[in-house]
Order: sequence, then structure tokens, then C-alpha cells
Amino acid sequence: MTALPPVIQGGMGVAVSDWRLANAVARTGQLGVVSGTAVEVMCVRRLQDGDPGGHVRRALASFPVPRIAQQIIDTYHLDGGRPHGVPYRNIPMFSVRPARRLQELSVAAGFVEVFLAKEGHDGQVGINLLRKIEAPIPFVLHGAMLAGVDAVLVGAGNPHELPALIDALARDEDVTWALRVQRASHSDHAITYSPSALLEGTATEVSRPVFLAIVASNDLAAGLAGSPTARPDGFVVEGPPAGGHNAPPRGPRRSDARGQPIYDVQDEVDLPALAALGLPFWLAGRYGTPGGLRAAQEAGAVGVQVGTLFALCEESGMADGLKRESLRTIHAGGAEVRTDWRVSPTGFPFKVLSVPQTLSDPDVLAARDRICDLGMLRMPYEKEGGSLGYRCPAEPVASYTGAKGAREANTHGRVCLCNALLATAGVPQSRADGALEPPIVTLGADLGGVAGLLAALGAGPEAYTAAEVVDHLLGHH
Ligand SMILES: Cc1cc2nc3c(=O)[nH]c(=O)nc-3n(C[C@H](O)[C@H](O)[C@H](O)COP(=O)(O)O)c2cc1C
Repeated sequence: MTALPPVIQGGMGVAVSDWRLANAVARTGQLGVVSGTAVEVMCVRRLQDGDPGGHVRRALASFPVPRIAQQIIDTYHLDGGRPHGVPYRNIPMFSVRPARRLQELSVAAGFVEVFLAKEGHDGQVGINLLRKIEAPIPFVLHGAMLAGVDAVLVGAGNPHELPALIDALARDEDVTWALRVQRASHSDHAITYSPSALLEGTATEVSRPVFLAIVASNDLAAGLAGSPTARPDGFVVEGPPAGGHNAPPRGPRRSDARGQPIYDVQDEVDLPALAALGLPFWLAGRYGTPGGLRAAQEAGAVGVQVGTLFALCEESGMADGLKRESLRTIHAGGAEVRTDWRVSPTGFPFKVLSVPQTLSDPDVLAARDRICDLGMLRMPYEKEGGSLGYRCPAEPVASYTGAKGAREANTHGRVCLCNALLATAGVPQSRADGALEPPIVTLGADLGGVAGLLAALGAGPEAYTAAEVVDHLLGHH
């Protein structure tokens, strides 16, 4: 496998690790990773904001099928951007039979993100995908491969099918991508994707990227490493302090006084046992310090995957106001990150930074009308008669519990992460009453690394760059 560097800038959805951040990191010689989550929505929102700088259109100009690129521009690009208060036009939702236009858009959006991340240097770029958000995976991944992505990193679920999927796409073969369906009476629910049909026979040569599985346990790592079909090229071992979603604790469900999941020794990964699997690995979650990198390497890791430090740097896609407010609170020593059991419709614990006027405030959450208009976290379920329905515990309660027959208790405390995270990425939907969708900020539990970087730079709470993060981690300051 191509050797990967010691620092991986972790994938951070939605669009916190967008092409700008990954490009800046890759230029330093470390691995920049774009988030593949909701790239299709980001792509059309950037176009509707006028595509300042022409980046999306420049990338689309290199897409192998010009007709598809032009159609996307014709459908979504607004010269000069949306008139004030006009809502973004949404895209169709994924289902077991995604509309052809949605397939095209998803392939093109994966292409755009990686093309821009790789532009202007010869460093390495990866794409991060969440196993839980499964329907877009083959399309976004293929687009990323068409743009020459070097590495694919997949977590939030067991990614055992990924090596076969990557191989098939690299060979331009048709793909059958099984979906996990609630209440399913059989296991044949699958999306089929024909790259050659979608790309209208355009000859596309792609090389096979490296595949890293993001894992939180020895069992999963050993299972994957021992399987002839599922064996990855390496692992990112992500512990409970990591930002974003976390694997739930292994034992019975227990919460501390603040209602957070309790992790104990069972949740610790046995690093010598992991190293004995013989695959390269990187450690993530509270490793974003120079000492963290040294400790990881002493434990046999190639290096570390870092999120939080990069999420707050100048090139990250987090909305500027949120970034500044987060840095100010961290610098002042008052920042609080909570691991929340309920927030994420996925059911995984999710880290939330307390920031005024965001969904960390229960009043902001209570004031939001439940609307499900993006649907990326909808789960398919089998209806009586065998057809599929789609539901999300953050959708309006009446539709979730009514015709869709799910339990009301499952809706409590859920946040529409689709709308919230797009707001965090600076593209909030406008609602009819003129209100904007409120954001939510996720960071890792360890903010000491950020404070340490600010101190090392001798800076106040001002933004720092991705290159400064890398220099700091490598001990170059
Ligand atoms: C803002 C943010 C968003 C994240 N989103 C994702 C994601 O979409 N997919 C993923 O695999 N990991 C995600 N992570 C985890 C990071 O990739 C990385 O593993 C983690 O942040 C490392 O721990 P640290 O925050 O202590 O540096 C996210 C982390 C942050 C801070």
C-alpha cells in the first residue's frame, strides 16, 4: 500500500473538513481528508450561493461526463447567489431506487470535493464516509475515485463490505449494495449501481485507493483483519473522547450524573493485540498534541488522526462565527463538551459543545419546528406487504409514530443533524418565517489540545492555520 503519513486530519462532516481544509493539510505532506457526508447537498448549496470563486464549476468542468456537469450547473447555479430569505432548493432523498439525477449528482459531488482537495499539489487526500449513511456510499465513493482519491476511511458501523465495493468500482463493475432495513423479512434489499451506464460508457480509469477502517474495538479490528474479503489496509482506532459520533460503551447502558455514557476498561482497545494484527494503524480521540503523537508511535501506531484541532483552524468549513465563539470560550477556559446519548438520530452517542444560540441550548431545540426535508439519516423499514418506507426519529413525531408505526419514546431529545450540521457548515436553510435553521457544534472531549496550541503559538483566541496545527503536532514549533 502507498505509505500514509503520521498525521491524518480526520474526516469531519458535514463539510467541516471540506476540500479547503483537506487541500491545506495535504500540502503539508500529511493526509487531508474530506468528509463525504452530504457532499451532494453541499455542492448544490454552494452553487445556489453563486459559487464564489467558481470552484465548484471549475471542478465540474473536469468531470468525465460534461452533460452531467452542465445539467447540475443549469439546475442549481444562481448567478450572484440566492435572493435574501429565499430557501435553498433541496435535492431528492435517497431510497432503495435513487433517482438517476440523484445518482449523477452524488457521483459528481464526490468528484468535486476530491478534485478541489487535490488541486495544486501532489499530496495525498482521503475521503471519510459513515457506514450508517449507507445509500449514497457507492455513488460518492465512485466520484471520489474518479478524482483520484488516495484513501477511503469509513467508520460509524462495521465497514466489512468496503474492500469489495472499492475493488468493484476500481474495475468499473456494476455494484449491488445491500441496505440494512428495519423489520426486514429478507436480506435482498439493495441499491444497484452501474457506473458504466451512469457515465454513459465514458472510459474511466481509476486506481484503487487505500482503505482504512475506523474501529473502536479489538473484536471488530480482528474480525476485519482475519477475513479474506473484509481485510482493510489499516485502521484508525477511535476512542470515546473523539469529536462527532462515538461508538457506544460495550457493557450495559449506564450514564453519569450529567447523563453521559460511562465508558470503562472494556471500552479500551488493547494496543499490543491490535498491533499484532500486522496492519498499520493510527490513534484518534485526544491524541491531538505533540505528546499524543509520540505516545501513539511508541504504542506501535504510524501516527494519529486528529479532528478537534483542525475543526477550529482557519481553513475548516465550520461557519466563522461558530469557530470564533468556540475558540473564545476555549481560550477563556469555559468550554464544555457533553457526550449526548439522545441527540443523534443514529442512536450513537454524539459530542456537543455548549454554544449560545445553537441546539446545545434546550430552548433553541424546543423552539425548532421538526421538519425532515433532507432525510440523510432516514432508515429504511419494511412495510406490511414488503415495500420500503423511510423514517427518522428526528422527523415530525406524528409522521414517525403514525403511519410509520415507530415508538414515540425514540423521538425524545433527537436533533435533525442534517439541517443542524448544514447550518454549522454555513449553509443554513431559511424557513418561511424568515428564521434560519440553528446549528450544532461538535468537538472532541479534550479541548486542552486546542489551548496548548494557542499557547504554543503565543496567540489569543484568533484563528490559526492547518499548517500550524501540523507543525505543532510534529514538534516544529
Ligand atoms: C467537528 C467534527 C466532526 C466529525 N465528523 C466526523 C465524521 O463525519 N466522520 C468520522 O469518521 N469522524 C468524524 N469526527 C471524528 C474525527 O475524524 C476524529 O477521529 C476525531 O475528532 C479525533 O479526536 P479529537 O477530536 O480528539 O482530535 C469528527 C470530529 C469533529 C471534531
